[in-house]
Amino acid sequence: MSILAVVLVCAVWLGASFVSAKLFSGSDRVRDDIAITAHRGGAGYAPENSLTAVLRSLNMGVSSIEIDVQQTKDGHIVVCHDNTVDRTTNGSGKISEMTLDEIRALQLVAEDGTPLGEGIPTLGEVLEAMGGRAHLLLEIKRYADTPDEIEGAVVKQLERYDAESWITIQSFNDKVLERIYDLKPSIHLEKLAFCKILGLPLLFDGGLRVCTLRKYAHVESMNFFAGGVTQLYVDRLHKAGKRVRLWTINAPEKVPCLDIDGIITDYPDLFMTRSNKTPLQ
Ligand code: G3P
Ligand code: CA
Repeated sequence: MSILAVVLVCAVWLGASFVSAKLFSGSDRVRDDIAITAHRGGAGYAPENSLTAVLRSLNMGVSSIEIDVQQTKDGHIVVCHDNTVDRTTNGSGKISEMTLDEIRALQLVAEDGTPLGEGIPTLGEVLEAMGGRAHLLLEIKRYADTPDEIEGAVVKQLERYDAESWITIQSFNDKVLERIYDLKPSIHLEKLAFCKILGLPLLFDGGLRVCTLRKYAHVESMNFFAGGVTQLYVDRLHKAGKRVRLWTINAPEKVPCLDIDGIITDYPDLFMTRSNKTPLQ
C-alpha cells in the first residue's frame, strides 16, 4: 500500500472515530439486546486468553467469550494473541517454531513479568471447560509464519469437542474465512475490520479490501473497531441480514450511538447490569 493510501485510510478512520465516538457516545447506548462478548477471554480481570479468564467470564454469566488461536510446530492449536510467546509468558520464541511441550513449560506473566502459575491453554482445554455454556467467538490469527493447516486443525478440534453449534469463527484475514467455509460451510463466520472507508466500497482490515455484500455473503456479522463505522453502513449491513459488533469498548460511556448488535470488551460485567445475557448466534 502506498504512503498516500495509508494517510487516506488513517484520516478517514480518525474522522469516523471522532464523529461516532465523541459526538454520539453515551452510557445509555447499551441496549438490553446488545450481545456482550468477553475480549481475549475477559482480559480485564485475568491474564488475556487464559483458562482463568475464560472460567471467570463463565462464572460472571457472560454469554459470549472471545479468544485468539495459533498453531504450534507439531500441529496443536493453542490460545494466544501474538505469534510469539514473548509478551505474555516467561519464555520467548515463535509459536510456529515451538512444540506443545515447549509451550506447556512456560507460564503466563503479569505486565511486570511476574510468572502467574498458569500456562497457555490449548483450544481443546478451552472447549472442554466451556462445554457449550456460552458462545465462543474464536479468532484465527494469520501471521506470516502461521502454519498453512491452521484452519483444518481448528475444525478438527471443533468436531472433536462437538462445538460447532456454539462457536463462531472470526478473522481479519479473508483467506481464513474462505478456507473455513470450504472445509465446513455450516460453521458461523464473522469478518473483522478496523473501519469502512467513508463513501467507498473499501474496508481497512490491516490492508485495503474491496467489500461487496457478495464477497461476504457467508459472513453473518461484520466486527469493527469502535468508531470505524457509520450508522449509514450499519443500516446497509442490517438490510443485508448481517449483524455488527464493535471492539474493544471498555466503558459503557464509550459506546457510540449506533444501532449495533454486539460489544466486545475486556470488562463484560460493566455492560451486564441489564438483561443482555443472550448470545449473539
Ligand atoms: O474481537 C475483536 C478483537 O479481538 C480484535 O482485535 O487484536 O484484540 O485480536 P485483537
Ligand atoms: Ca482477538
